[in-house]
Amino acid sequence: MWGGRFDKPPADVARAFTRSFPVDRRIYREDIVASRAHAAMLGRQEIIPARSAEALTEALDNLLVELDQLGGPPVNADDEDVHSYVERVLTERIGDHGRRLHVARSRNDQVATDFRLYCKGFCLRLVTAVLDLLGVLARRAEEEAETIAPGFTHLQVAQPVTLGHYFLALFEMHRRDVDNILYAYTVADVCPLGAGALAGVAFDIDREFVAEELCFSQVARNSLDAVSDRDFVSAVLQACVTLSGHLSRWAEDLVIWASPGFGMVRFDDAFATGSSMLPQKLNPDVAELTRAKAAAIAGAATGWHATLKGVPLSYALDMQEDKRAVFRVEDDVLAALRALTGALDTLTVNRERMAAVAGMGHSTAIEIADYLTERDVPFRDAHAAVGRLVRLAEDRGVELADLDEADFVEADARLSADVRDRLDLPTAVARRTSLGGTAPARVREEAARATRWLRWQRDHVQDLVGRGLPPALQPSARAAVVR
Ligand code: ARG
Repeated sequence: MWGGRFDKPPADVARAFTRSFPVDRRIYREDIVASRAHAAMLGRQEIIPARSAEALTEALDNLLVELDQLGGPPVNADDEDVHSYVERVLTERIGDHGRRLHVARSRNDQVATDFRLYCKGFCLRLVTAVLDLLGVLARRAEEEAETIAPGFTHLQVAQPVTLGHYFLALFEMHRRDVDNILYAYTVADVCPLGAGALAGVAFDIDREFVAEELCFSQVARNSLDAVSDRDFVSAVLQACVTLSGHLSRWAEDLVIWASPGFGMVRFDDAFATGSSMLPQKLNPDVAELTRAKAAAIAGAATGWHATLKGVPLSYALDMQEDKRAVFRVEDDVLAALRALTGALDTLTVNRERMAAVAGMGHSTAIEIADYLTERDVPFRDAHAAVGRLVRLAEDRGVELADLDEADFVEADARLSADVRDRLDLPTAVARRTSLGGTAPARVREEAARATRWLRWQRDHVQDLVGRGLPPALQPSARAAVVR
């Protein structure tokens, strides 16, 4: 491909070290589709003969079908990268027509184009999987709108909440992931093809035509930036760091909740694993591995940032490592997301046990302080009075509701035993009706709102899939997944 000015072939160790085919064969579809658009443009602009353009587009179409059936390019092909692989096969099949394809193009603008297409597709696959999780969360929030659960701060029981409220908190986190992923999609949605090696080209090319064929909504405005820019890779990875960090946090909650000391949830047999020695064990492996994958994903993103920050403008081979980082992160984040979604979908909740834990540690003490505040006691004084009552209850080993009328009055003259009516858990949660609060009525309202938002967002993503990717790269056409 580039041997003309060399006296000898590369040393085996140098070639093995620098070639990227084993990794980038995974973007063969994007390479073929982008090459097809380039060939069609070259023909329209009369940069190559019309019959060459026809031979090229036909051969590229055939190659795509063929490679899909094979599950991707042969693993043991000896080419430098996927781009040289495709060009070699074309030339073997259609001779000189194949040798005309690379005019007005460099692998530098080519790989940036291919990988932007790939990352757009990845964003759409990922956001679809997040929407599936959000569907499970909205459903479970509705089902558990009245279920009393412990609310923790510092992992100490703080106040009772409803389990539906907890699920809606996760809904909020992952709704932001949808925004982050769609932002990364927008960053990737710019077409660099036509930038050449770095300086633009001396032919009358039609960059708008190519961008439109490939469903990019913008054309890169500077050829140096076009081949050096990998912000889309950083944006995709960053979205995955935040997403997997979210997954890791609630995976950790589930590990704790499933531990016998808490015993508040149970993983379905289909989403748990056993011990080779201890017959009674049911381990939350899916949640544990999610925590570990989140660490690896953060590492890959950090490594990528460190790689990119030192690369002088415009292209250098350091940037080839973008694919390794994205593929690793893609495999990990999608696997964790899907497995954890399944685990949540099938999780059994022990409502009695949850309520029991929620009532531990005088978790409704604040009700007494609120009661006093309503009777014109400054909150700080109320806080101190309730602190004394908690101390008293602890000394006697009883609940606050078990204290005597005299105890209440002694803590503060404006207190009476009817405050006990406020101390039970359902009453305490039902009173928290402020916007975003934990009351079952609020949770039902918010769950309905979440479901409406989800319906709208699904339509939006469906629309993006339809117009954001060329037909050959649509998920339905992407049956072959290369690893
Ligand atoms: N395999 C390379 C990559 O993934 C393709 C571009 C190579 N360009 C070059 N001038 N060596 O980045």
